[in-house]
Amino acid sequence: MRFFIDTANLDNIKEAQSLGILNGVTTNPSLMAKEGIKGKDNILEHYKTICEIVDGDVSAEVISNDFEGMIREGQELALLNPQIVVKIPMIEEGIKAIRYFSDKGIKTNCTLVFSLGQALIAAQAGATYVSPFIGRLDDNGQDGIQIVKSIVDMFDKQNYQTKVLAASIRNKNHIEECAKIGAHVVTAPLSAIKELIPHTLTDIGLKKFLDDYAKNQ
Ligand code: E4P
Repeated sequence: MRFFIDTANLDNIKEAQSLGILNGVTTNPSLMAKEGIKGKDNILEHYKTICEIVDGDVSAEVISNDFEGMIREGQELALLNPQIVVKIPMIEEGIKAIRYFSDKGIKTNCTLVFSLGQALIAAQAGATYVSPFIGRLDDNGQDGIQIVKSIVDMFDKQNYQTKVLAASIRNKNHIEECAKIGAHVVTAPLSAIKELIPHTLTDIGLKKFLDDYAKNQ
């Protein structure tokens, strides 16, 4: 499973990169706003900076709802850096845009996916990634992990090349479950990624090893 970080915060991206576990970045307009990045030029510059920090794919979301607007924005984003993946919402105009970019060899991430059927139509349009939102499905009283599993299994059975990019991750359990069900990529905030590292028994064990070493000197 590949690890992406779900943020526009440069310090968080640098920290995840320094851990040596990072394969890419996802952003969205809310995450950009959270960092106070506003205005088209600043937003485009921010994507360029992110691409300089990481080696892998960087999802940059369009804000148009119509086909022409998505194409215009997506082309501009894709020209910034070959690492850019054009992130497109799961709506009818978005499906047309995904097909357009797919035919041109430009990578896409179909976002705001909440069902197997939505993932199927995005894959059929040639999306590079589909992003099912686990946390928001859970919030909606559904089982996000089970929906992601059904998409992974269906893509496998139908031989779709589209990758399942599990998103809206809230904690380490989501990440562990994604790995178990075979999600191709998980995108998570740094806090959830770092929850994977500590364990009380690791701390106790390490203390004993170091105490025993010190006593023996
Ligand atoms: C996906 O790429 C989105 O940026 C993100 O995972 C949404 O997560 P949220 O539900 O925590 O906002």
